Amino acid sequence: GIRCCIFDLDGVIVDTAKYHYLAWKRLADSLGVTFTEQDNELLKGVSRVESLKIILKLGQTSLDAPQFEQALVQKNEWYLEYIAQLDASEILPGAEAVLSQARDAGMKIALGSASKNAVLILKRLNLLDRFDAIIDGNKVTHAKPDPEVFLNAASAVDVAPSDCLVFEDAAAGVEAALNAKMKVIGLGEAEVLGRATLVLPDLAEQQLNHMIAQL
Ligand code: BG6
Ligand code: MG
Repeated sequence: GIRCCIFDLDGVIVDTAKYHYLAWKRLADSLGVTFTEQDNELLKGVSRVESLKIILKLGQTSLDAPQFEQALVQKNEWYLEYIAQLDASEILPGAEAVLSQARDAGMKIALGSASKNAVLILKRLNLLDRFDAIIDGNKVTHAKPDPEVFLNAASAVDVAPSDCLVFEDAAAGVEAALNAKMKVIGLGEAEVLGRATLVLPDLAEQQLNHMIAQL
């Protein structure tokens, strides 16, 4: 059975996708690259470095190494500006309840996020102490869909991958979980997340035991 729940952060626990989008959009504008909300789907779950590569490819343009580094720094500065007011009111509906249900059921709880800002954000949301392990963008070398982030999370809490359940909102994250041989609940649209073990629109009103019964 499931003994560990691994949560993605952005788009699963907190509604930060819109701030990532605004910061990337601002950067794309500054580079003269057209970047739409639809393009932004490609960046969900994807690391900062890989996201910039995708944007440059969309614009059929390139940056030299120092400019590339500077663009990453600039994007994060803007992102941090946008999340300066972030607080528990932006926890996504149902996320906190499912965290509590996992805890009450005696399961391990881990974070598996590409974000290098994960600890800062969890502190702002007052959720840091809900996690037994945090594997974030500072701890992995291979971006989702590589399974590294989820495998490291499972190993940090000493649970076999086959006993782990991942919650993900991004196609790259669903693939990463499947590559880790874990069960995965996709939160969002079936067209994007169809390969997940189960797809739900979001966690609102969901009960962990009911979700697990459907896997
Ligand atoms: C993921 C987001 O969780 O983290 C991506 O879905 C983001 O949009 C990635 O690019 C990296 O985040 P950060 O905070 O390190 O720039
Ligand atoms: Mg996400």
